[in-house]
Amino acid sequence: MEIIIQPDSEKASLLAARIVKKIIQEKPQPVIGFATGNTPLLLYKNLVRMHREEGLDFSRVVAFNLDEYVGLQPDHPASFHYYMWKNLFSQVNIKPENVHIPNGLAEDIPAYCEQYEQEIKAAGGLDLQILGLGTDGHIGFNEPSSSLASRTRIKTLTDQTRKDNAVFFGGEENVPFHAITMGIGTILEARTCLLMAFGKKKARAIALAVEGPVTSMVPASALQLHPKAIILLDRDAASELKHVDYYQWVYEHKPEWQKI
Ligand code: F6R
Repeated sequence: MEIIIQPDSEKASLLAARIVKKIIQEKPQPVIGFATGNTPLLLYKNLVRMHREEGLDFSRVVAFNLDEYVGLQPDHPASFHYYMWKNLFSQVNIKPENVHIPNGLAEDIPAYCEQYEQEIKAAGGLDLQILGLGTDGHIGFNEPSSSLASRTRIKTLTDQTRKDNAVFFGGEENVPFHAITMGIGTILEARTCLLMAFGKKKARAIALAVEGPVTSMVPASALQLHPKAIILLDRDAASELKHVDYYQWVYEHKPEWQKI
């Protein structure tokens, strides 16, 4: 894992945008896995700015979102469909036919999830998967005890995750109990994983995921098995890591050609 610690979430998000930009520019048909939530909002702002000011071209981008709540209409303000179109897709030149977001209204959910997996494969696999981190260590909506080999499927949200997201639904009682999510096995097949975490409330989950054992009880710890996982943090999210000095030393001594 490459652990990058930036002074704040603004600087970290700008760096994340440069990583995404590089992949979009390098690949003839970049396949990008997107996440929702608070964490990537600044990244998406930067990508919109790069599109407007620097001509970053999304016309070849194929998008696959990580997850979606079960039972929400796409125009529900807390749905991930709504979030993605509002915060990114409507503001760049992505082709609507290239956007894939799990359909939380699918009638046959297992068949739909299998189809989603096939669509990722048919697109050539994910070049990059953007990830946030749950306070309980989840990635996507792979909650603790999720199989490290899991594929896209329905998951039941933990009490903690429903509490964390209550604000978007005007109260915990309105938060759905289920979501469709790419599996940990699906995520690990992305050629690059970029996990971002900001703020003190993520510090414990980061310490467990990065310096703890690989365990299904901390789903993000599965990234230790990934050949190219970038963990991008602000100082607060890094505050419970034991080896901060070492990670900073490594980052400062990166060979010129590896720098972003
Ligand atoms: C969202 C997702 C979740 C979030 C995580 C952190 O698509 O998959 O894993 O990334 O719950 O959410 P925030 O960023 O709101 O703290």
